[in-house]
Amino acid sequence: MDSNLDRDNLHKIVILNPKGGSGKTTLATNLASFFALRGPPPTLIDCDPHGYSMRWLSNRSPQRPKVYGVEAYEHCTHAGKSSQLHGWPGSSHLIVDLPAALPDDQLYYQTYDANSILIPIMPSEIDIYSAARFIADLMLVAQFDRRNRNLAIVANRTRKNTRSFRMLMRFLTSLDIPIIAQLRDSQNYVYAAACGIGIHEMPAHRVKQDIEQMDRIITWLDNWRMRRLDAVASARYEHVPRAEVLTPALVKHDR
Ligand SMILES: Nc1ncnc2c1ncn2[C@@H]1O[C@H](COP(=O)(O)OP(=O)(O)OP(=O)(O)O)[C@@H](O)[C@H]1O
Ligand SMILES: [Mg+2]
Repeated sequence: MDSNLDRDNLHKIVILNPKGGSGKTTLATNLASFFALRGPPPTLIDCDPHGYSMRWLSNRSPQRPKVYGVEAYEHCTHAGKSSQLHGWPGSSHLIVDLPAALPDDQLYYQTYDANSILIPIMPSEIDIYSAARFIADLMLVAQFDRRNRNLAIVANRTRKNTRSFRMLMRFLTSLDIPIIAQLRDSQNYVYAAACGIGIHEMPAHRVKQDIEQMDRIITWLDNWRMRRLDAVASARYEHVPRAEVLTPALVKHDR
């Protein structure tokens, strides 16, 4: 791996949720499959000692578009080592699949330089409770700043109109964190995981609904540079008294 890559052009996407089975690896592998199809080959970093992302990759046919895999459990559990993680030369996307059990000190190291952070959440009461605590930790322990606009939620395995789904929506709206997609509970994800592919590599008629939601995630991710600029601009204006931010025309009109 080349440590001299231009970090400005590398989109680091971190997928995390300390709750096991929330859909982190599903999201990571489906994104890897999509970016591989679109090219250039992405780098998929598996920080989970169980190595499910790497197992997915080992099931992937060499005839499929390339995904570079990095087994990085050690890098994700030792303070400081995460900064040694880099994409393969030529990758423009670095997708980090984090394990459920992540030490508190690692939360900061894994997220501070992420351009996009995705949290898949399942709408059960216990998952919502755990997500609420986790997002609070992210803000307190990892000093995550929502104004960076690099955090989004993916509601996973949703069944609409259930009480828990409405609860999840209320909770997220109150945090002002966007819910960018709702993945339905579908065997397509299970099938794709077993075959080392993503839903974008399956017959269109079978995955139409799933693709629609996955494409929302990709649209949000593709907007990362714009989000970063917006965050910088709003930080610049944050401490300026409101009158100074008004355009001259508006100031005149106010008088
Ligand atoms: N939307 C979905 N529909 C159907 N099955 C799903 C969906 N999302 C995930 N799964 C299945 O649920 C299981 C857990 O998902 P996954 O491995 O992605 O979670 P995880 O958050 O990575 O888990 P861990 O914390 O153990 O790493 C897998 O068998 C996966 O195929
Ligand atoms: Mg996983």
